[in-house]
Amino acid sequence: MKIETVGVVGCGLMGSGISEVAARAGYDVLVREVDERAVEQGRDRISASLERAVEREKITPEERARSEERIRYTTRLEDLADRDLVIEAIVEDLAAKNEVFSTLDRLAPGHTILATNTSSLPVTELASGVGRPDRVMGLHFFNPVPVMKLVELVRTIETSDETYATVLEFARALGKEPVTSPDASGFLVNLLLVPFVLDAIRQVERGTATIAEIDTAMVLGLGHPMGPLTLCDFVGIDTFHRISEIMYEEYREVRYAPPPLLKRMVAMGRYGRKSGKGFYDYAGDEPVPLTL
Ligand SMILES: NC(=O)c1ccc[n+]([C@@H]2O[C@H](COP(=O)([O-])OP(=O)(O)OC[C@H]3O[C@@H](n4cnc5c(N)ncnc54)[C@H](O)[C@@H]3O)[C@@H](O)[C@H]2O)c1
Repeated sequence: MKIETVGVVGCGLMGSGISEVAARAGYDVLVREVDERAVEQGRDRISASLERAVEREKITPEERARSEERIRYTTRLEDLADRDLVIEAIVEDLAAKNEVFSTLDRLAPGHTILATNTSSLPVTELASGVGRPDRVMGLHFFNPVPVMKLVELVRTIETSDETYATVLEFARALGKEPVTSPDASGFLVNLLLVPFVLDAIRQVERGTATIAEIDTAMVLGLGHPMGPLTLCDFVGIDTFHRISEIMYEEYREVRYAPPPLLKRMVAMGRYGRKSGKGFYDYAGDEPVPLTL
């Protein structure tokens, strides 16, 4: 089977990036958001990202225009029923994702593949709720999607060889480097990354070092492109918190448990870069580390 039409559910940080790379690769993309305001925000995010790609000479202004033309928007999930592949990229919440999957399963033709961009939820949990578990996979992109090369392909024990081969071909057509992971919460990257970032937050809680010291040490000492607390702000404090809760629930290992500071930040709406404040304040030209 060959993918020609793509649906994306959610146009936040990840859904906008996924829509952009699919459109840039020539696919016909239809994105669903919850309301008109969210559609506008998603459209603006894609537009700004494509503009940056033109400025960096990754694409021509003509390619930008063609990519924008290939993306349409809707607030109705039913509109995605005619797609060959639907990629879900909504909040990291099993009940919400299950609802999307069961609606699409009911409406979409038998050949449609349902994929999830979940970071930590077991894909099997989503597959078990639909009538086509052989056509369900994890397709886990990295942020920012247009820049990051890796994509994790997650097979459940029910995923068919045909579905896997089709999604693998799609990932390669986007110019991504796929790795295959079994369906274990966190897959390959987050399994190792999440305890590392949570440990950095615990050091802030304990007063071992400041936010800036920890980030600077990991950038200069290990050659990481950004420190763990900057990364957490970039991912989204709320999303990171959910990922941590889900992985803790899955493995019952303390190293995945969300530190109290992370919970407090979520309670106060400090979601990181996207809300303007997390471990850093993003109001000015340069991020300013906060005292927590
Ligand atoms: N942030 C990251 O770095 C990252 C990386 C890889 C994977 N992920 C995963 O991608 C998913 C999305 O994360 P994000 O960072 O883009 O979150 P986000 O908060 O930026 O965006 C989520 C979007 O989904 C929309 N939404 C919620 N319910 C919806 C529904 N039923 N239909 C359509 N849209 C709906 C919201 O309005 C919002 O715009 C999560 O599962 C997350 O774990 C995130």
